[in-house]
Amino acid sequence: MLPYATAAEAEAAVGRGMTWAEAAWFRYSASIPDYCLYCHNVPILLLVYTLAPLPLALLELRRRRRHLPLPHKLQPGVRHPPAAFLRCYAATARVLLLAVGPVQLASYPAVRAVGIRTGLPLPSAGETAAQVAVYLLVEDYLGYWIHRLLHTPWAYHHIHRVHHEFTAPMGYAAPYAHWAEILILGFPAFAGPAIVPCHMTTIWLWFKLPFDPTKYIPLYGGVEYHDYHHFVGGHSQSNFSSVFTFCDYIYGTDRLKEMAGNHVEKGDENGFGNGKQD
Ligand SMILES: *[C@@H]1O[C@H](CO)[C@@H](O)[C@H](O)[C@H]1NC(C)=O
Ligand SMILES: [Zn+2]
Ligand SMILES: [Zn+2]
Repeated sequence: MLPYATAAEAEAAVGRGMTWAEAAWFRYSASIPDYCLYCHNVPILLLVYTLAPLPLALLELRRRRRHLPLPHKLQPGVRHPPAAFLRCYAATARVLLLAVGPVQLASYPAVRAVGIRTGLPLPSAGETAAQVAVYLLVEDYLGYWIHRLLHTPWAYHHIHRVHHEFTAPMGYAAPYAHWAEILILGFPAFAGPAIVPCHMTTIWLWFKLPFDPTKYIPLYGGVEYHDYHHFVGGHSQSNFSSVFTFCDYIYGTDRLKEMAGNHVEKGDENGFGNGKQD
């Protein structure tokens, strides 16, 4: 909800004419309560998760039917049956609606408290890009450690195993995980905006990113790592990064550990405990 009744009042408050985007934002958001603006996150997430992986999924299914190779896949030999796409999509959409949605709606007081703004002026493209870059770094760092913790025996067996059902990730499988994992991974995503508050439109952009499989196409450093992580399977104690790979580099989890000729047992390498995982 904007505190201006008319576009003229808004321009007076901003101290200049509105840009095209600001005029559109004014028309759209002037009479919508902030809480409702925040709630937009849920349909946006669902829409992005539905549409973004579609082109690559259709490409894969079509080439698969014609027995053509899949050049864009990191593990071209692995072919998912159409039922796997559907199962994956339905399961993640259900988690989005039944778990992520309610938590998003209930987290509004936190969004208020950290100072997410809805008014004018809109942030510039540069400001938005800088904020998203910070959020990516924060999320990558915290996400790395959460992922590492998820590979300890208890957490792996009860939560993270679901995400590892797919040994060769595809678009729809990227966010496919136990509902608890999807909720837990919301914290690193929220940590960035809590540290560096932004505009509501940046929140929309930012929270859709984890469900945007372009993060998992072979442009980012992390995709090969992550594919390798799935390829190795649940007992993998390496390549935990999702977007950047600096954490794996810093903590040495991009290399196989050989400590003074003394080979470390699997399950003990994550430094959190021991035991074997499947
Ligand atoms: C991590 O992934 C890379 C591929 O990006 C692979 O070459 C490397 O061996 C992996 N590291 C471990 C320890 O599995
Ligand atoms: Zn994992
Ligand atoms: Zn994964």
